[in-house]
Amino acid sequence: MSETILLAGGAGFIGSNLADYLLAESDADIVILDALTYAGNLMNLRNIVNNTRLRFIHGHIENSEIVNHICTRYCISGIINAAAETHVDRSIHSAAPFVQANIVGTQVLLDAAVKYGLRFIQISTDEVYGSLGENGTFTESSPLRPSSPYSASKAAGDMLTLSFVATYGLRASITRCSNNYGAYQFPEKLIPLMICNALEDKPLPVYGNGNNVRDWIYARDHVRAIWAAYKFGEPGEVYNIGARCEMRNIDIVKMILAILDKPESLIKFTTDRPGHDFRYAIDPSYAEMRLGWKPQAVFADALKETVEWYINNDEWLTAARSGEYRNYYARQYGKSF
Ligand code: NAD
Ligand code: DAU
Repeated sequence: MSETILLAGGAGFIGSNLADYLLAESDADIVILDALTYAGNLMNLRNIVNNTRLRFIHGHIENSEIVNHICTRYCISGIINAAAETHVDRSIHSAAPFVQANIVGTQVLLDAAVKYGLRFIQISTDEVYGSLGENGTFTESSPLRPSSPYSASKAAGDMLTLSFVATYGLRASITRCSNNYGAYQFPEKLIPLMICNALEDKPLPVYGNGNNVRDWIYARDHVRAIWAAYKFGEPGEVYNIGARCEMRNIDIVKMILAILDKPESLIKFTTDRPGHDFRYAIDPSYAEMRLGWKPQAVFADALKETVEWYINNDEWLTAARSGEYRNYYARQYGKSF
């Protein structure tokens, strides 16, 4: 008999990519619980909305009544938690929503998983490890040294998850992934923001000197890893997910400009992010060995595909950048952008 998974945050970037993947590649039925914050968007589910294996419920993961109702009403066998506040710059402005969603919300989902004896995947991030210097990589045993309110709240969610394994025997595993890119990423993050601004010949705000390094993975490779961790991961284990694709921010921005045939004069260096982590680099070999998973995308091709997706999804982009986004943009980048 096929199982039914509660996918929290399924209307966000990674959640919607995961929902697409699960409906296409697994037998699982899915119930999405999503608060539809500024980052959640029902348009992200437009290709699968008529699939009879998918249900959508609007609500917060902190609401234990809704979570418990879903678990019993739909005979849920596992929870995958992709619901979170996710943008570092917003967490610098205000930490409170991050504590609420990423810590309190995770605790409510964990309580339900214990109560109903469910499998649990906590989707986490390499940012919990803090910053690397010029050399080295993050392994699963690297110490947790979060440097933003966002990454600190994610680290707290991870620690709660591991404590539920030790204390209650919860069958929970954690994935810690590097920077994602692909379709449906909200245009506040580096790659979609630069694509959107370049398309409109607006300045591209590069923090500091642009030499910070991120390790990039195509979202479709990440969601395959999450499902592999759900199926083959061990309780209490952490799996680092990455594609060995380190890039300096400035080089990515130049690649985007080249794809769009736009001039580098659009680049505008701006005030650095406070507490800006210098470099991330994931060693994914443990996940590759234990989960039988490997990243497949080639960065240059997948970046081009991503740029084309944004060009071809003007309606989505206009909706994402209306309303709240305008206030955020003005606060974050000021008048000269
Ligand atoms: P996102 O911001 O695009 O989407 C988050 C989703 O969660 C949205 O649909 C939002 O409505 C929903 N949500 C937020 N608070 C909620 C709440 N309290 N209750 C219910 N739903 C709520 O984020 P994303 O990029 O898809 O990230 C998903 C997860 O993956 C996060 O845990 C993030 O830390 C992790 N992650 C992201 C990346 C990346 O590069 N995007 C990399 C590694 C890990
Ligand atoms: O590493 C995984 C993490 O990647 C996820 O956990 C986060 O949810 C996700 O937001 C992302 O965090 P980053 O802070 O690395 O991503 P962001 O896209 O915000 O920034 C990437 C780099 O680009 C970072 O060094 C800051 C820089 N940047 C970002 C923005 C938005 C700029 O130079 N200018 C910008 O306007």
